[in-house]
Amino acid sequence: MPAAIVPVFEGRKEERFGAGDLCDAGEITGKPLELTLLHHPPGVAATRVLLVGVGKAEKLTPGDLRKAVGAAARHLKARSVKKFAFAATPECNTADYLSAAVEGAILADFEPDRYQTSNDKKTLEELVVAGAPDEKAVSRGRILGEAQNFTRVLVNEPGNLLTPSKLAEAARQMAAEFHLECEVLEQPQMKELGMGALLGVAQGSAEPPALIVVRYRPAKAATQAHLGLVGKGVTFDTGGISIKPSENMEKMKYDMAGGAAMLGAMRAIAQLQPPIAVTAFIPCVENMPGSRAQRPGDIVTAMSGKTIEVINTDAEGRLILADAITYARRQGCTHLVDAATLTGAVSVALGHLNVGLFSNDDGLRDRVLSSAKQEGERMWHLPVEDDYKDYLKSPFADLANVGGRHGGASTAAMFLKEFAEGTPWVHLDIAGTAWQDDNKPFLSKGPTGVAVRTLVRLATGWKD
Ligand code: BES
Ligand code: ZN
Ligand code: ZN
Repeated sequence: MPAAIVPVFEGRKEERFGAGDLCDAGEITGKPLELTLLHHPPGVAATRVLLVGVGKAEKLTPGDLRKAVGAAARHLKARSVKKFAFAATPECNTADYLSAAVEGAILADFEPDRYQTSNDKKTLEELVVAGAPDEKAVSRGRILGEAQNFTRVLVNEPGNLLTPSKLAEAARQMAAEFHLECEVLEQPQMKELGMGALLGVAQGSAEPPALIVVRYRPAKAATQAHLGLVGKGVTFDTGGISIKPSENMEKMKYDMAGGAAMLGAMRAIAQLQPPIAVTAFIPCVENMPGSRAQRPGDIVTAMSGKTIEVINTDAEGRLILADAITYARRQGCTHLVDAATLTGAVSVALGHLNVGLFSNDDGLRDRVLSSAKQEGERMWHLPVEDDYKDYLKSPFADLANVGGRHGGASTAAMFLKEFAEGTPWVHLDIAGTAWQDDNKPFLSKGPTGVAVRTLVRLATGWKD
């Protein structure tokens, strides 16, 4: 094997591989993400041993290990080492750690350079997990890592190449490959269903909208619950007539990250086969200021019957989600989770570190939060009490689509809550976390694929 990745713990001297001297000298400390590459180390078959610090043994979480293995894999990849083994130690030989290690390596492999034409691209070719591995855990890690990368590939696609129809086509392909049912609602059906909020956003673009529905049904359900996953699929957000400034507008190709996260989650769910029905709903539009575009002041009627005054056409995500949420409820979903790059305001509140989480149901909220914690995805609960409705008052319609300058992430969530009505619902605002501007040692810059692992954990760990 060209290389073995070996975790080293802080405060514990590594005596193998002739590393003892380096520990004594203070070069190897075991601090998180510290990397030491040893060539031709004594006592092992591998040509190289890459020691990666993972911090104190008693504090090690699967999330720490995911990052450590990711950083090690990227270090090796940068040196053209494409095949390596991960040597599990007794501290990290349980299922969650092994899955995380495999995920770390697979996530480390993604690069956003698909459209660069050079032919010397480096990719990882082989990962072996050594040391009595649990095959099921390794396979779960592979499924999750690949699902998250599938999401990242979609999010990275530019708006000209990934239109609503193309996103629907990608969903159809994925569904066929993993034996899921896929249905795509088009404009005439949307009209029939009265999806005025979604159609209002779509009308400014020459690209037709699509509502992607992907269904997973278990062979044997262990629950009556039916989980609905609703993801924002704006393939490009110019802002519409309330047009965005040109600076950074190119980033608005990632405004379908919520939808892509749902497709990634469905891809993994299809393989892991949890005993609960799960359906993904992804309303897809391009938000453009074309000659037929909706105007500020327009009033649209949503599928639920509520009328909406469109004050700002750039607050389009909540409009398309409103109709998708109503549709999901009518399709019999008993629990809803949506993910959306919904507001700039969530980054003002939480920076780029935490997903903003809102809910009308404490039970579902706690389950999503604990799934997130187990998966090492940071999410923070923010308020969406009914009092926020006051911010959304319109003199002309049932509600306005924006709520003024203050509390933008909460007023956006409040808007969605009006359409979730009595159904237990969690909203994840991933605008601050779905894209990262800089490389991390363990993850390339670009799309992160946030929320995929949490959603899969929620489904696979479902208990009534
Ligand atoms: N897609 C944006 C939100 C966004 C902003 C995502 C930055 C990622 C990075 C959304 O459609 C939007 O434009 N929201 C407005 C709402 C405002 C008009 C109330 C915003 O956040 O500025
Ligand atoms: Zn917008
Ligand atoms: Zn948007």
